[in-house]
Amino acid sequence: MKKDSLSITDNRSGKTYEIPIENGSIRAPDLRQIKLDPDDFGIMSYDPAYMNTAACASSITYIDGEKSILRYRGYPIEELAEKSSFLECAYLLLYGELPTKEELEHWTNRIMRHTYIHENLVQIIESFRYDAHPMGILISSVAAMSTFHAEARNVNDPEIREKQIWRILGKLPTIAAFAYRVRIGRPHNYPDISRGYAGNFLYMLDYMNERDYEVPPALSRALDVLFLLHADHEQNCSTATMRSVGSSRVDPYSAVAAAAAALFGPLHGGANEAVLRMLEEIGSVAAVPQYVERVKKGEIRLMGFGHRVYSSYDPRASIIKKVAYDVFEVTGGNPLIDIALELERIALEDDYFISYKLYPNVDFYSGIILQAMRFPTDMFPVLFAIPRAAGWLAQWTEMLNDPAQKISRPRQIYTGYAQRSYVPMEERTSPRTTRT
Ligand code: CMC
Repeated sequence: MKKDSLSITDNRSGKTYEIPIENGSIRAPDLRQIKLDPDDFGIMSYDPAYMNTAACASSITYIDGEKSILRYRGYPIEELAEKSSFLECAYLLLYGELPTKEELEHWTNRIMRHTYIHENLVQIIESFRYDAHPMGILISSVAAMSTFHAEARNVNDPEIREKQIWRILGKLPTIAAFAYRVRIGRPHNYPDISRGYAGNFLYMLDYMNERDYEVPPALSRALDVLFLLHADHEQNCSTATMRSVGSSRVDPYSAVAAAAAALFGPLHGGANEAVLRMLEEIGSVAAVPQYVERVKKGEIRLMGFGHRVYSSYDPRASIIKKVAYDVFEVTGGNPLIDIALELERIALEDDYFISYKLYPNVDFYSGIILQAMRFPTDMFPVLFAIPRAAGWLAQWTEMLNDPAQKISRPRQIYTGYAQRSYVPMEERTSPRTTRT
């Protein structure tokens, strides 16, 4: 018997099987040999929401949820947040190594040169209703980009792929800024590539023809750090969507639109928006204990708390909390920070939150910073989608280059009828048909 193996005895037949263990995992297809007779399908593993199933091998991002560790390509997130930039990290995620000076210049130049969007895309953005959610505009605009760049369908060509990556990373901030400007009824600011990635984005959102206009460097640095922290987080809901949709070999614009749609949900990238609404609803520090009681009764969830992977403090939340104070130096404080701090203090001392291992996640403080920077609340998920595109594209590239990957296709346990005959209309008695 091999040491690195699992012995499984099927008590129905009394037979024992040796299943190899590799990287602390067994291969689910190895279970298929466990069957009662040759015509059986064999044993499957059942794992709704992928609670304990690895769907890929990846060398991009490492998380140890118990020890609050997050690393991009082996580099601790704390060190990157202090010394690196979003575009440098995007390069690191995609190519596996930190760029040399020349490589970073080329990479930055390529992305910034692709910040302009086609005028037809501008018209699409302008055709949304005045109150359209900017995330809906972003998702639709990225999907529309597939119609502008037909060659993107050739996903097996690495050069064509790379060009789409430049385009997506370059154009996302422009789409987001244009969506915002349409919303507030102001003319667009076309990209100024000399201002850097985050600086240009803030300029496109904000500029009003002022003489001597400058983006405060502390704000562009804060946004750049937020972007860097959000760039990748291994196999979360939107990244799994990117891989799954991309596995059909669709073009990257369609896959990124799908991933962005997954991110929009309040349990994922929509959470920072939900945190802000929650803090506004609580309204005052005095009302915090009462709110916490409602959470403990199961009436509501504490948004910005809890994580599928972290059972301790999300390392990104600690960095963001520090960035918040840098932003407040420029913008003045945000009254919601006091409510957030009290909520965190009470929650971290409370048995309910301790027993469920619920700690602040990345979204708990990011919304407060973004509000202090005067972003409207519904722009928050957009500000998550822009940097996360780097992670999606890195994971997509890794998936396409991985010979073990095929089109994604989960199995199911069928729980419906075996077979029945068609029932004519006059014989149907099911209550569903009488529902108004
Ligand atoms: N407040 C109160 N109770 C909670 C919370 C919360 N935020 N999160 C989990 N729980 C409880 C939950 O009620 C459940 O209790 P029980 O077993 O008695 O029913 C238990 O903890 C396990 O919850 P779960 O929903 O099975 O855990 P999950 O791993 O599926 O969910 C989560 C993870 C992030 C969706 C969840 O913690 C949550 O809804 N948090 C609030 C939303 C949020 O902040 N999302 C941002 C996540 S970080 C950024 C990102 O990934 O996009």
